[in-house]
Amino acid sequence: MSSSKEVILQELRDRTPKSGEYWEQSKDLVPGGLMSGARKMEPYPVYVERGKGAYIWDIDGNRYIDCAMSFGVHVLGHGPAPVLKALQAQAERGMSYGMPHTREVEFTQRLIECVPCAELAMVCNTGTESTLLAWRLMRAASNKPKIAKFEGCYHGWHDYAQWSVTVDPENMGPAERPNMTPGSGGIPDGARDTMLVLPFNENAFRLIEEHAHELAGVAIEPVLGGGMLTVDKGFIQKLREVTQKAGVLLHFDEVITGFRLALGGCQELTGVLPDVATYGKVIGGGLPIGAVVCSKEMVAVAQKTDDGFSVAGTFSGNPLTLTTGAATLKYLQENSDIYDDMMAKGEFLRSGFNDWCASKGYPFCMTGIGSMFQIHAKADLPVLARDLPGQDEEALAELQLHFRFNNVLLPWMHLAFFSAAHTQEDLEEMLRAFRASVEGVMNSRK
Ligand SMILES: Cc1ncc(COP(=O)(O)O)c(C=O)c1O
Repeated sequence: MSSSKEVILQELRDRTPKSGEYWEQSKDLVPGGLMSGARKMEPYPVYVERGKGAYIWDIDGNRYIDCAMSFGVHVLGHGPAPVLKALQAQAERGMSYGMPHTREVEFTQRLIECVPCAELAMVCNTGTESTLLAWRLMRAASNKPKIAKFEGCYHGWHDYAQWSVTVDPENMGPAERPNMTPGSGGIPDGARDTMLVLPFNENAFRLIEEHAHELAGVAIEPVLGGGMLTVDKGFIQKLREVTQKAGVLLHFDEVITGFRLALGGCQELTGVLPDVATYGKVIGGGLPIGAVVCSKEMVAVAQKTDDGFSVAGTFSGNPLTLTTGAATLKYLQENSDIYDDMMAKGEFLRSGFNDWCASKGYPFCMTGIGSMFQIHAKADLPVLARDLPGQDEEALAELQLHFRFNNVLLPWMHLAFFSAAHTQEDLEEMLRAFRASVEGVMNSRK
């Protein structure tokens, strides 16, 4: 370990003694000390006291520009006033009824108004549940057993989804036919038998045609959250043509991109309409949510199958979440110019970082689109999930320490977000912090 890394680690410990105490307790209470593996940090995570707008404060009183935004949840920043006001009023009236209530109508009306492919919406509690539900719907509507997903795409942590999410160069298989690698122990072989992993190249189309008789649908993240890689529009257009011709349903997983990049998400940006789309994160307005949208016809067909089609969920569509969700969608519909603004700010950040790294000859770059971004320890911009491995992992880990040292908070995996609450000054401060962090890593290697 370089001495400058030791110095920074000690400085971070000195700045966050209370977080350190909670961390010691958490490790005894929760596996690995964390409620989600994605919250890892060195020397230990900061424990958050509060968030407001673009900022987060830890329990030791340090303020950070938040570039995690709860993994993309807060497109309006922490605690936007109209959402908080609606939440407080609803909390007085009850938190969960297990009965229909009027916010269901307002929320789903707004969701369907904004999403091009939507005629009906089903609401659940997380993005993971939304893809589980979407894939069951696709199987029921097609009466076929398998789902295809692309290498590198993340669709949540359920047993069907965690195949070939990250690329292991030792075991990735040929580019034309990626290996199916599980992302966790404990996933039954039965789940493997219902999945097919596709490559991001022309061979995907051949595989879809070859397996059309057993494929209910194909799922894709139009922007891969892992790596913040935007899929080529031409590829998505061809995927639509091929699936349509083969009688295979198409699923856009917009859990990250939905209402973050545009009101109509990647459907609006690509002009391509899937059969099914899934949502989460932003549409809950800060509370847990997932949703599946599709045509009326698809649900009708699924319900007519021998076994019918049904879902349930104690908390699905609970009044608190639909209140914060509806208030957020209303705000976004009435202020949709925030998307152009975030697109421009994202370009400012990426070009400011990438041009500077290139001018210095530093082997780092930033990918992303709009308010989604990720820094990589390589000089050339990665395009596909297969371009991601082989980075200087130590440099990436050290970069994290420097981000925190510079009072900018990013998730350990580096995938990052800003919000409409981040001002141009915040973006300039982020850029300064990212450059200083890269300088710090480069200096420790001299
Ligand atoms: C594209 C995509 N699908 C599904 C999920 C799972 O959502 P959740 O974490 O709410 O279960 C995520 C989470 O990051 C995601 O990015």
